[in-house]
Amino acid sequence: VQSDRESMFIVNSWAQQYFSTQLHEHQEGRIVGLRYFAERGFRDDIIRKFQLGYSLDQRDALYQAALKKGFKKEYLDKTGLVIAYDNGNIHDRFRGRVIFPVHSLSGKVVAFGGRVLKKDDKTAKYVNSPESDIYHKSNELYGIYFAKQAIVKQDRCFLVEGYTDVISMHQAGIENVVASSGTALTQGQIRLIHRFTNNITVLYDGDAAGIKAALRGIDLLLEDGMNIKVVLLPDGEDPDSFARKHNASQFAEFIKQNETDFIRFKTRLLLDDAGTDPIKRSALISDIIKTVAIIPDNIARSVYIRECSAMMEIDERVLLNEVNKIRLSKE
Ligand code: CTP
Ligand code: MN
Ligand code: MN
Ligand code: MN
Ligand code: MN
Repeated sequence: VQSDRESMFIVNSWAQQYFSTQLHEHQEGRIVGLRYFAERGFRDDIIRKFQLGYSLDQRDALYQAALKKGFKKEYLDKTGLVIAYDNGNIHDRFRGRVIFPVHSLSGKVVAFGGRVLKKDDKTAKYVNSPESDIYHKSNELYGIYFAKQAIVKQDRCFLVEGYTDVISMHQAGIENVVASSGTALTQGQIRLIHRFTNNITVLYDGDAAGIKAALRGIDLLLEDGMNIKVVLLPDGEDPDSFARKHNASQFAEFIKQNETDFIRFKTRLLLDDAGTDPIKRSALISDIIKTVAIIPDNIARSVYIRECSAMMEIDERVLLNEVNKIRLSKE
């Protein structure tokens, strides 16, 4: 007999095809969904590769189609494709949205993200599948199935925020890219990347939230002994919008020119922020010291201590002392 998980995978696989069929063949899907993707500049081969779709703007179109196919309500509910209310009503979760299926490392559809066509203040921009027996958000990375070979080949992984960033970078020929889907990076996601490479380049949105997220998740990467670089995009741009304004070689050149070592990036950013205020400066110095203390490799750590001492104009021996104190207290 099929396990619950197997049944959920089968339902999701059917739903992915259903959403894609609506996008390509249904009049509403073509007029609304395909046009949306076209306006964003997504090529047809890329739309098909990522198995993008469209959910009709109806209360329970998917639910009815699924029942007709013989799928049980139980699994539609468990995967989160429908929402079952206490009063017995059942609605489709995704309605009038373009659909981004989320594939596991082995290519199974574990979840969906649905985007509204027009952003307003009342509706959430994205609706996502809930956590389930087959979807643990903190262990998945959007795009990993399509990226893994390129990550190994390039021995580097680009980390971006969103679905459309992954897709646009693929379209620009950069395939070693995954998205954390807007949340802070988790240990499980880092381990997933670490199976394929030691080298990560973070390409978060060029806005305050993106920069904050870049600073937040990344101490975790250092802990795992990974080499981390950061590229700060121009203000207000994300990899998707940037890729639309530049061709592939301009994009690659921008990355090459703007790739900064993470600790250098963090130190410079915090230094700029602190200015000459002595209280802020000493707070930032302890912050950087904590980050450097995480680095597991002795040689790498001492290189960073030297570099940070120069950047922050603090005696190297003082820094070394502080770093060692933190490391000893953790042993
Ligand atoms: N996200 C989400 N729910 C939201 C907003 C964001 O799940 N309400 C996730 C999505 O995975 C999204 C990512 O966070 O792709 C990054 O968010 P954002 O930068 O706001 O969206 P974009 O990916 O840039 O989407 P778009 O270009 O379509 O506006
Ligand atoms: Mn390693
Ligand atoms: Mn963002
Ligand atoms: Mn974005
Ligand atoms: Mn965007």
